[in-house]
Amino acid sequence: MAAPDTAPGAPVKRTEPLVPLYEHPGLPRWGLPPALAALYGGDLGFTEPCLYANFVASLDGVVALGPEFPSSGSTISAREPADRFLMGLLRACADAVLIGAGTLRASPHHRWTPEHVYPPAAADYARLRLRRSRPPEPELVVVTASGALPTDHPALRAGALIVTTTAGADRLAGRLPTSCAVVPLGDGPVLRLASVVDAILARGHTAVLSEAGPLVLGQLVGDGLLDELFLTVSPVLAGRAGTIRHGLIAGLELLPNRREGADLISARRRGSYLFLRYRLRALLGRD
Ligand SMILES: NC(=O)c1ccc[n+]([C@@H]2O[C@H](COP(=O)([O-])OP(=O)(O)OC[C@H]3O[C@@H](n4cnc5c(N)ncnc54)[C@H](OP(=O)(O)O)[C@@H]3O)[C@@H](O)[C@H]2O)c1
Repeated sequence: MAAPDTAPGAPVKRTEPLVPLYEHPGLPRWGLPPALAALYGGDLGFTEPCLYANFVASLDGVVALGPEFPSSGSTISAREPADRFLMGLLRACADAVLIGAGTLRASPHHRWTPEHVYPPAAADYARLRLRRSRPPEPELVVVTASGALPTDHPALRAGALIVTTTAGADRLAGRLPTSCAVVPLGDGPVLRLASVVDAILARGHTAVLSEAGPLVLGQLVGDGLLDELFLTVSPVLAGRAGTIRHGLIAGLELLPNRREGADLISARRRGSYLFLRYRLRALLGRD
């Protein structure tokens, strides 16, 4: 998956079906509409409540090219249609999509809806949501400490929940579209991600997709909040030299002192792209 930015009007090619390589027995199955199941190469579902993240990485582990390059995910994935289809499918399964302000600022044209990223499946994504008695779009949740948001961003104009500090809420007062709601969650300089997740679950959301970047993912993993990771491996090398190019996690060191294991529970392929699904220890610990 990616944090793709789609310039208005940019065409999206149709994908060929993903080829299943491995599926852990007994995974939840929600009964996808046939067209989605055909493209995904099988059924899909989650044990709720579930917080799952989706990323695309280069072969050398880069997910963000650096602040001077917007839309890293799109560049890394080369807008691969199969990756975009899967992103749309994971959004269609979600009650809420969580991003950090860094991802919002890096994707000035994006909307975090299923059909925005893969329009050819819009009707089938809608069918899945209707079948699950969900509203047409997942709720977008943006976390920011500073409140320094691009308030004319199309995703904010469409409506979002902004979870922020007291100072962030003060900074945003009177500047956001009326479609947005602000939830201040504390006086400190930053929020605890556990309280952000609690605030999302308190809205009745049980399937939460994180499309946030490495800073937020680091905190979700560090605090044991992440249940699953969908990782697209794009067949390209990104390289690293002067600029900081993050892998999946920023702001947190794990090895050698802390081992965060994960189990591969599904693998799919389209061309030379790999679509991997891992279950993390957060969920395993609850088994
Ligand atoms: N390859 C992929 O699949 C993928 C996916 C997502 C993103 N990306 C890329 O990742 C880059 C952005 O990375 P990022 O790590 O900056 O993104 P991010 O994690 O989505 O956003 C970071 C921002 O979130 C806010 N935040 C984080 N922790 C917080 C806390 N505890 N309390 C309150 N606010 C908090 C802060 O916003 P404020 O600064 O406003 O306080 C922080 O600067 C972009 O290049 C994007 O394209 C790639």
